Amino acid sequence: MIKTAKAPANIAFIKYWGKKDEKLRLPMNNSISMNLSEVYTTTSVEFSKNLKSDTLKIDGKFPEDKEKERVVKHLNLIRSLAKTDLKARVESRNNFPKGTGLASSASGFAALTLAASGAAGLNLSEKELSIIARLGSGSACRSLPDGFAEWKAGDSSETSYAYSLYPPNYWDICDVIAIVGEASKKVSSTEGHVLAESSPFFRARISGMPKKVNEIKKALKEKDFTRFGEILEEEAVNMHAVMMTSKPALYYWLPETLITIISIIKWRDEGLESYFTIDAGPNVHVICQAKYAPRIKRRLVKLNGVKRVVINKPSTGARLI
Ligand code: DP6
Repeated sequence: MIKTAKAPANIAFIKYWGKKDEKLRLPMNNSISMNLSEVYTTTSVEFSKNLKSDTLKIDGKFPEDKEKERVVKHLNLIRSLAKTDLKARVESRNNFPKGTGLASSASGFAALTLAASGAAGLNLSEKELSIIARLGSGSACRSLPDGFAEWKAGDSSETSYAYSLYPPNYWDICDVIAIVGEASKKVSSTEGHVLAESSPFFRARISGMPKKVNEIKKALKEKDFTRFGEILEEEAVNMHAVMMTSKPALYYWLPETLITIISIIKWRDEGLESYFTIDAGPNVHVICQAKYAPRIKRRLVKLNGVKRVVINKPSTGARLI
């Protein structure tokens, strides 16, 4: 039986950076995100007695060893739950460049979890799927539930999962992504998480998290866009300060990243309100009210170094298709 799943990438407004359990991918803090309508992974999985080993294709290519190992490990987990030892054929496609901080591991492991568990005959709840996706890549657990999600850090595998705070149509906001770099990053987020604790600012960041999470949830509840934007922008800079001060230091930004940031602040001062956030890569996510998205796109495409601009609406989570 072949099952195909489509899962969105998500943008975190409150970020996951640093784990309290590396193996179980238990994060240091809760995080808050929105699923993205135009950035996604589609994955088909089939378990078959005719296969001698797992066969993987990602974006039309056979993945390299490290990537393959991570996918096979995830398939093993699903096989153990389904009590099968059949090998799998996996075919996965991203509609965006992988490994550039556009969250390919999030959409990738969310789609893989849903397609593989379905193909293995498991009938899992959204919570169970979120937990399994988390074990593949932490941020993937937020691509299962619809719309705006919170990932509860928890203190065990069973208590660490994401759930939907609001459906996609709850709030008419957009994530306008300015793509300034399409090369794969040198240090993966998995490697980066381990370094977080070596920053002198990491403890301070974590101790401020519960308050920040509560404040952004309040802004989301009240649809207070200005407050919401201020918090998410401050949060992104806070995480990148930890990255840049870890040992060794991690600089995910390019010069064009900073050009974009400064332009956003300037436009905002002139009355065009938007706020920026950045994951583990150089690309800038511009969060704005939907009515301003086309205007912001028109300005972004004219900036030096901006290669492509993608307007995302809030989206549903992963679905079998
Ligand atoms: C900066 O989920 O990619 O995007 O669990 O090791 O796979 P692993 O890490 P990953 O980390 C995402 C980091 C981030 C922030 C976020 O999405 O919350």
